[in-house]
Amino acid sequence: MTVVSSNSAPALVTEIAQAAAILEAGGLVAFPTETVYGLGADAENPDAVAAIYAAKGRPSDHPVIVHLAPEADIGYWASDIAPQARQLIAAFWPGPLTLILRRAPGIPAAVSGGQDTVGLRCPSHPVAQALLRAFKGGRGGIAAPSANKFGHVSPTTAAHVREEFGLAEAAHAPAAIAVLDGGQSEVGIESTIVDLSRMASVGPVLLRPGQISAARIAEVIGLMPAAIDARAPRASGTLDAHYAPHTPVALLAGAALASTLQDLHAAGRSVALAHLQALPAISPCVRSAIAMPSAVDAYAHDLYAALRQLDGAGADLIVFETPPADSHWQGVNDRLRRAAHDSQGVLSRLSARVSP
Ligand code: TXA
Ligand code: MG
Repeated sequence: MTVVSSNSAPALVTEIAQAAAILEAGGLVAFPTETVYGLGADAENPDAVAAIYAAKGRPSDHPVIVHLAPEADIGYWASDIAPQARQLIAAFWPGPLTLILRRAPGIPAAVSGGQDTVGLRCPSHPVAQALLRAFKGGRGGIAAPSANKFGHVSPTTAAHVREEFGLAEAAHAPAAIAVLDGGQSEVGIESTIVDLSRMASVGPVLLRPGQISAARIAEVIGLMPAAIDARAPRASGTLDAHYAPHTPVALLAGAALASTLQDLHAAGRSVALAHLQALPAISPCVRSAIAMPSAVDAYAHDLYAALRQLDGAGADLIVFETPPADSHWQGVNDRLRRAAHDSQGVLSRLSARVSP
């Protein structure tokens, strides 16, 4: 298998056909979606799905999302489909929304990590759609988690995918993973996940916030999705520590920024900073700084690339200025909280002066 990169439209058509053939033969293809890049395999081939887990270093009891073409028959993949699922599909597909439904009896348990549900999503990215239409004549499903190592930052460009799997220097050598390049992902954070598999008992549950907010879902189905509960189907994107770069990350309120940076400087630490407000003076401990956009969609679009760039600065600590707390920011704040899962511990450890 070769690493494929797309330069022109006719070349892309060929690459998509090749990628579909790789998937049909049980291989892995990384492909762009509007949220993040996915690492795909034939959802109905348990060995191919197992190869995703192996490449990611992910526990095999974690379910993966099945991506479908816009024309796909949902009834083939899921059973007991609640009317609310049809409403959400009509409103938001293709787009960044994943629905958890009861898995149809013929669908292998491997895609669900053995659970009796299945996660379905129809992406809007044109390259993802072309791939889904080419694969098994549009009747297949592509199982795809984000194309990153387990727990690490999701990729929003083809270059990030190559970085994650060490494919950067493989342009001339055969590689285990084909990569389709569809430019930078527009949305930038993973899809919103709504569990509709327990409508009769608990109603809709928001498993992972994303660009499509709980409020917009409530407008469509007339019910506000509940916050995640202990009995919800497992979702690795909901682990406390996730979306994390190698450098420790801390979240800091704007008001505390200047004084904490001073403490870190006094303790001899270096910082890579993502700030929102204009800073009057940047502390000498700041090795690299990114001014993040103040609009939420633009912020989400830039978030993972910023995390990767700051991770590459070689600082002791990455500091993110905490974004606004209002509900539009729920998806962004969720990812930041998980990237900075030990924020307080990291800050107190690093800002303590080394005793003489
Ligand atoms: O935007 C996205 O959703 C991206 C792109 C590639 O589509 N995919 C993505 O996949 O984020 P992944 O595997 O990194 O996260 C999918 C989440 C996981 O937390 C997984 O556990 C959950 O969806 N999930 C998938 N199927 C599920 C199921 N049957 N029940 C509960 N959670 C499920
Ligand atoms: Mg992921």
